[in-house]
Order: sequence, then C-alpha cells, then structure tokens
Amino acid sequence: MTRYDEVRAKYFNVSLTGDLLEDVTRVCETHQATHAYLLPHLLNVANEAKRLAKRFNLDETAAFAGGLLHDIGGLVPEAQRLELAERLGIDVLAAEREVPMLLHGKLSAYFAHAIFGVTAPETLSAITYHTTLHANPTDLEKVVCLADKVKWDREGTPPYLSDLMLCLDDSLNEATKFFIDTLYHSDLLVVHPWLIEAYDFYFDKA
Ligand SMILES: [Fe+2]
Ligand SMILES: [Fe+2]
Repeated sequence: MTRYDEVRAKYFNVSLTGDLLEDVTRVCETHQATHAYLLPHLLNVANEAKRLAKRFNLDETAAFAGGLLHDIGGLVPEAQRLELAERLGIDVLAAEREVPMLLHGKLSAYFAHAIFGVTAPETLSAITYHTTLHANPTDLEKVVCLADKVKWDREGTPPYLSDLMLCLDDSLNEATKFFIDTLYHSDLLVVHPWLIEAYDFYFDKA
C-alpha cells in the first residue's frame, strides 16, 4: 500500500466527486464523531475568506478553496502528526517537532494537493502559512489567515476581533500587522520561525 493509499483509506475513505465543497463536506461527515467542530469552522472561514477577497479585489475562488481546506490536516490526531508528516516527506521544523499542532497547515496543504487535487501554488501556500503567516506574505495568504482569526474555532468572540475589524477597515496590510503583533506578543507554547520572520518583516526591518 502506498502512503497515498494509506492516508486515503484512513482519513478520506469516501468517494470524491471533484466538487471541492461537496468533497470536504463528505469527508468531514465521516469524522463527525471526533471532529464535529471542523466542517462549520471550514465553511465559516471559507465564506469569510471569500468576503475578504471580494473586498480587497483578490481571487474569491482561491480564497474560498484555501479557507475550505486550511484545517483539513486537523483530521490527523495530534499525537500522529509528526510521524505522518515525516512519512509523507514533509519538512518538519524544530518548533513543529516540539508542538505538532503547528504541523496541521503543512498537512492540510499536502491533503489539498494529494487528495483534493488543488494545484494552484498560491492556494497551497495560503493553506500552509495560515497559522502564523511568514515574511512578505501574499495578499491571498493574508486573507485566508485573517479569515481564520475572524472566524476562530473556539467558543465566543475572539478578544481581538473589534480591533482586527477596525484594522481591516484601514487596509489588509494594517490588519496583517495587527495580527502578527498580537500573535507574537501572546502566550505561545513555542514561537514558530515563520512568525519571527513575519514579525521582523513588519516591525524590525531596519
Ligand atoms: Fe489552523
Ligand atoms: Fe482554522
């Protein structure tokens, strides 16, 4: 059995239609018992990403696809993420080894390509970098990342939401800077090197 077959059988054991929304829905429904939160979150983020893309004149279809798949790697239990990423040949950084939750963006991008047939590099990178962004992010990366922060996967309203919305009224870039600053100064288990790069890019360029 190839690694693809193994992953397909374990996490994506449904017939796929080629329609992304239908396929993500089908997959999530088979994981309802353990991941009931996932489909509503993916739909919320996809729709928010599409709204932001429209607002900032970006590719709405790519933004929707990025949002729809950004956390699909979350189907892999945290305890198995490191081993699976290594078996799939995904480059694992030290911070991700320490906190395997941080691997879900890379796993999501892998599945987006291998399982759901997404080939557009800009969509795949928006999925990969959605947790922390990185230095000099693209506008599509910003939109998928910020949509995820507007429509977070926890209960209640994010404490930063009103400030983030005000920054979005200003510009996509101001909102991105606000997010990076807030995340960088929050209580993190480990600071991912991409977040350090992003922070340096926006605040410490000199
Ligand atoms: Fe995520
Ligand atoms: Fe998310």
